[in-house]
Amino acid sequence: MTNVKNIVQLGFGDMGKGIAQVYLMAGYNVTAVDVNSEIIEKGTNYIKTGFQKLEEKGILPAGSSAADFIAKLKTSDNIIEASKNADLVIEAVAEILNLKQKLCKDVIENSPDHCIFASNTSTMSITEIAEKCNKPENVIGMHFFNPAPLMRLVEIIKGDKSSDESMEIGVKVAETLPVLRGKRYVAKVLKDRPGFIVNRVLAPRGIYTNYILDMAYEKGIPWEEVDADLSNPNAPMTALTLADFTGRDIAYHGGLYYAEKLSSDFGPGKVTKMQVEKGTLGKKTGQGFYDWTKGRPQPDLSKKAGIVNPDIFTAIAANEGCRILEEGVVSSWKVIDEAILAGMNFPGPMESATKNYERFASLLEETAENLGKSYLKPCELLKSGKFVDMV
Ligand SMILES: NC(=O)c1ccc[n+]([C@@H]2O[C@H](COP(=O)([O-])OP(=O)(O)OC[C@H]3O[C@@H](n4cnc5c(N)ncnc54)[C@H](O)[C@@H]3O)[C@@H](O)[C@H]2O)c1
Repeated sequence: MTNVKNIVQLGFGDMGKGIAQVYLMAGYNVTAVDVNSEIIEKGTNYIKTGFQKLEEKGILPAGSSAADFIAKLKTSDNIIEASKNADLVIEAVAEILNLKQKLCKDVIENSPDHCIFASNTSTMSITEIAEKCNKPENVIGMHFFNPAPLMRLVEIIKGDKSSDESMEIGVKVAETLPVLRGKRYVAKVLKDRPGFIVNRVLAPRGIYTNYILDMAYEKGIPWEEVDADLSNPNAPMTALTLADFTGRDIAYHGGLYYAEKLSSDFGPGKVTKMQVEKGTLGKKTGQGFYDWTKGRPQPDLSKKAGIVNPDIFTAIAANEGCRILEEGVVSSWKVIDEAILAGMNFPGPMESATKNYERFASLLEETAENLGKSYLKPCELLKSGKFVDMV
């Protein structure tokens, strides 16, 4: 099997710079490629500052200095040149299918025979990204969570034509990657389905959230009270602060994506559509659910609206977990819970479902009926409880 030493980070933006840092931390030689010279400069500074901070905190391995790690970073604006000695190229360019397809083809045609092309896409099909190149067996998904140096999860995704060897190399390399908090978790995604594991299992919770937001808006319930219902008191941000922080446009486009790929029930709700139309997207525009013009809002959660049943969120996610088990995306419910914990820092739904699946199934029948959303009906694997043995 290929001994991976030289890695090319293609796209050095928000995700790319974090991923490049992680590869450098593991001791690989990294060439960061971007078409934008300002981005190259910003990314290089981010990495230098990052390693200097680690050195100051005494976190670097004994006997090594920030300069040793930084010396292994090269930059370039030419992917064809950079691919010549690459063992693995990981792309984190904009989420545009024909751009990713073109870069995949360029890399595969100009790199050594063994070179793996890995995509960090959050939503696109790995099979489609590989479609235009002549070695689709060398193409896999390698999906990091933001920011890569801090988030423990990497999903390694098998496209329809990815070889077992490419998957094995992807998993082995990901397992060598350090993480600044806790222990790296590498999840194998055995089928190329929308959202892979974590994003997919959590996505249909948005159907219930849309229902709650639209109902609260119609009844004139203040967002702070809805937020008090939706938020986990131990989380670093309240649910609606986080929604504003991420951006309402992201929720809107996410809804449209899953509506196209899985079911029209995922389509954005009235409140989300309205926010996008008005440009009240959250932090980036200064106004979302909350006013951000004076910094991060500090909502008062002392009064609850009493309109949310948290069990419904768990039941919906557990049902989706069972769907991806049915589809063969994963073969064990434990992988789903581990991946959610490593990627999102909160517990997954499956363990609870092993004890509560009958109750969850009837709650979902009732919710699907009340909301008029048939996608929320329980699937066979949840209803029968047979997933419990898939460990
Ligand atoms: N941002 C996240 O939270 C997140 C999380 C997981 C995965 N992703 C995925 O990562 C990818 C990148 O997202 P991002 O948020 O880092 O985007 P970004 O816009 O911050 O970075 C993209 C970079 O790609 C560069 N680029 C564009 N065309 C190029 C080309 N032809 N050659 C080289 N570089 C080129 C751009 O100059 C830019 O610097 C997307 O596929 C996204 O779905 C993002």
